Amino acid sequence: MEYIARKFDIPTLTGLSQKQMEVHLALYEGYVKHVNLIRAKIAKLKESDEDYAYVINELRRRFSFEFDGMRMHEYYFEQFEGGAHGAAETSALTQAATEKYGSWDAFISHVKEVAGTRGIGWVVTYYDPSGRTLHTVFVNDHELGQLAGLPIILAVDLWEHAYMVDYVPAEKSSYVDAFLSNVNWSVAERRMLEELV
Ligand SMILES: [Fe+2]
Repeated sequence: MEYIARKFDIPTLTGLSQKQMEVHLALYEGYVKHVNLIRAKIAKLKESDEDYAYVINELRRRFSFEFDGMRMHEYYFEQFEGGAHGAAETSALTQAATEKYGSWDAFISHVKEVAGTRGIGWVVTYYDPSGRTLHTVFVNDHELGQLAGLPIILAVDLWEHAYMVDYVPAEKSSYVDAFLSNVNWSVAERRMLEELV
C-alpha cells in the first residue's frame, strides 16, 4: 500500500492567511511522499545483494520522523475543518480540562505556556484513558517525546514553517493565539468521545 495525502476543507481563517495554509499543506504532502519513499527504499535495499544493513537501520530510525510528520499534520489541519467553534460546557473534554487544569481558560493558558517552550515541535494534548486525565506536553520535531499509545486530542504545530508566512519568530505567541481562535473544538471533543466508548 501507499499513503495518500488527505485533502482538508479549510475555511478562511482569522490571522492565518491562505498563502500560509498553502505552503503548510504542501509541506504536509512532502511528509506523505517521504513516508512512502522511505518504505520503498528500505524494501529495495533489502532486495540487494550488497550489505546495506547500516543504511537500512538508519532509514528505520528516520521512519518515525516522516510518519509522525505526516500524521501530526493530519491532526493539525482537520482541527480547522468546519470553522471556529467553541467547546461545549458539558462536553467530556471540557469536564476533563476543568478537572485537570481548574477551568477551560486555565487549560488554554496552559497550552499557551507549553507553546512558549523554546525549539521546534508541537504542543500536544492527550487523553489518557487509563489515568482518565489529560496531559499537555511539548513534542520535539514530530516524534520525540510523544506519549506512547495515548490518543491525541489537540495538536498545535510550533515549527516555524507553520507561521513564518504571516509572523516573524518573535511573534510565535501571536500565531498560537491565531491558531487557538480558529480551532473547531468539536473536532477535539469528537476525538475524546471516541476514546470513551
Ligand atoms: Fe507543520
